[in-house]
Amino acid sequence: MKTYHIITYGCQMNEHDSENIAGILEAMDYEYCDDPFKADVVVMNTCSVREHADKRFFGMLGQFKVRKKEPGDFIMCVCGCMPQQPVIQEKIRKQFSWVDIVFGTQTIGDFARLLNDRVRTGRHQFSIMANNPALPEEGNGKRLHEYKALVNITYGCNNFCTYCIVPYTRGREKSRSMEDIVTEIRGLAADGVKEVMLLGQNVNSFRDANGNGFPTLIRAVNGIDGIERIRFMTSHPKDLSEELIACFRDCEHLCKHIHLPVQAGSDRVLKRMNRHYDRARYLDVVRRLREACPEIAISTDIIVGFPGETEEDFEDTLSLVREVRYDSAFTFIYSPREGTPAASFEDQIPEDVKHARFERLVDAVNEISLEKNALYQGKVCDVLVEGRSKKDDATYSGRTDTFKLVNFRAGCDVVGETVAVRITDSKTFSLEGELA
Ligand code: 5AD
Ligand code: SF4
Repeated sequence: MKTYHIITYGCQMNEHDSENIAGILEAMDYEYCDDPFKADVVVMNTCSVREHADKRFFGMLGQFKVRKKEPGDFIMCVCGCMPQQPVIQEKIRKQFSWVDIVFGTQTIGDFARLLNDRVRTGRHQFSIMANNPALPEEGNGKRLHEYKALVNITYGCNNFCTYCIVPYTRGREKSRSMEDIVTEIRGLAADGVKEVMLLGQNVNSFRDANGNGFPTLIRAVNGIDGIERIRFMTSHPKDLSEELIACFRDCEHLCKHIHLPVQAGSDRVLKRMNRHYDRARYLDVVRRLREACPEIAISTDIIVGFPGETEEDFEDTLSLVREVRYDSAFTFIYSPREGTPAASFEDQIPEDVKHARFERLVDAVNEISLEKNALYQGKVCDVLVEGRSKKDDATYSGRTDTFKLVNFRAGCDVVGETVAVRITDSKTFSLEGELA
């Protein structure tokens, strides 16, 4: 039997794409192989958001070249955001011409055909674009986790934040139909899934052909038997509606956590980022969320060193972080993406300044995370158990409704169950406890 291995970088969107790619490979009778250097087919699913992502990508890719000299028909595939940038595509064609198959985020549905053609003809296969997106069939993926599932609800993005490559790589926003999504989730529930993560670049602008919006979808999923927890990602603050806020009040299965990327605390920077909200409006959304659901945990994404960011602008970001008091935050150093407007802004920030601000931001964020987590000490929380520690059989980990990672000890196998855990200790990124 032929085997495959998939290497995934980046966001949950990519993780889910990899689940779909694995589903396609298994339907073609390939078997999963743990070791990337032994598999017959290797897929690198790339991301271009992180700094120096291209250097890392080519470094990793280069390691597979030796496999081409080994006996057998080793097939190297590259997909995801990276090869959708023309410069990167050129480099693959010229300097990495031994790569067999290249496809994009919008052509995953072509993968089976590409692989068959490559096996049959020995020829390289490129399928990047995207005038007619070939999206994967949903519902046939191979889940990474037994008890929780990622579910696409929209594809692409229409927002064109000036730093972001996503609208160019994932194309225009499209919503799946609510009916399809609900049918998929019913199937997942029947298969033992207890938690679903609804995915989209901006889930708040979900609207299907029948006019169903995101709050309607949440209420429909809330009614599906067996689904205990609903999460979603990502929410754009500009489109967060009063109806969605009401869902946090009314829907018992909707988790008390929202990821609400702010990106910056200065109105001037937000405007140049094309975010379509200002600081006051963002803070107002946070206030209304907390009013509807006082226990809600809030996380965010923040970029430092966006072109033209002054010390004062940066301090606005720091003060916003202190005002909101995020449970956690993903922090990014701005890095130009070729083809985006901000990459050609004249006033780029020197690397040393960006790094110094980044350190200050991370310190502020971590200090608050630690304080927020300390509030959990002594509380008893419901934890959906996701796994058992590799090192120690009696240590389990799972998440609270508010998305806090909890490590705890238990005397019997509790994986897949929702159990009550008493929190005994807290750290910056996790909580510790014991079975209550
Ligand atoms: N530079 C730095 N961070 C970026 N992000 C997106 N594009 C860039 C970029 N060019 C960050 C944003 C987004 C998260 C997924 O990645 O904060 O919310
Ligand atoms: Fe990128 Fe902005 Fe779209 Fe998010 S909303 S994917 S940051 S363009």
